[in-house]
Amino acid sequence: MRVAALVSGTGSILDALLAADVPVELVLADRPCPALERAAAAGVATELVARDRFDAGFDRDAYSSLVADALDAHGVDLVAMAGFGTILGQPAHDRYGGRIVNTHPALLPRFKGWHAVRDALAAGVTTTGCTIHVAGLEVDTGPILAQEEVPVLPDDDEASLHERIKVVERRLYPATLRAILDRGTVLPPDDPVPSHPTTAQEA
Ligand code: GRF
Repeated sequence: MRVAALVSGTGSILDALLAADVPVELVLADRPCPALERAAAAGVATELVARDRFDAGFDRDAYSSLVADALDAHGVDLVAMAGFGTILGQPAHDRYGGRIVNTHPALLPRFKGWHAVRDALAAGVTTTGCTIHVAGLEVDTGPILAQEEVPVLPDDDEASLHERIKVVERRLYPATLRAILDRGTVLPPDDPVPSHPTTAQEA
C-alpha cells in the first residue's frame, strides 16, 4: 500500500511515522507548515494544496477534489491524517472513503473537534487519551481502530496534556498503521467476540 500523510502542524506525529518506517510516499499539507519542511528534509515527496487559494470563501468540495487529485497523482492507497486542519468533504470520501485514517487527541466519541485537549481540561476529566479511527464524513467519527487512555494531572495546561497524549500517539499510530499494512485491509476481519472498541457512531 502506498501511504500519504496529511499534515498542517509541527509534524511530530509525521516524524514518528517516518521513524517507525511506515512507508510514507507523499506528505500533503493544506498550508505551509513545519511538517511539510520536515517531510522535504526527509526526502519524502510533498504537495501543498493550499486551502487559502479560494479567494471568495472556502469551497470544501472543490478543495477536497483537489486533494483527491493529488493523492491520485501519487497512486496513494491509504491516507493517514497526522494533524490535518481541514475536514475533507464528500469528493474525497467518494474516492478514498474507508481508506482515510486519523489520530485524534481524545477518547472519541468524547471531545470531537480541533480543541479536544482544551475541551477535556475544561470538562474536568481525570482521564483522556487518544483514538485512531477510520475517518467518516462527519468530523471525528468512524470506526475506531485503537484507543489508549492518558491521565490528566492536576497542574496540566493544554500544552502539557497535549504533549503527554502525543507521546502515546507517536507509538499507537505507527503501530496501528503497521497492522493495516500487514493485513492489507483497514478494518480488522469480523471478530465474533469483539476485541476492539465499537464505532464512534455506535458508542
Ligand atoms: C496530534 O495530537 C493529532 O492527534 C492532532 O494534531 C496533533 C498533531 O501533532 N490531530 P503534530 O503537529 O504532529 O505535532
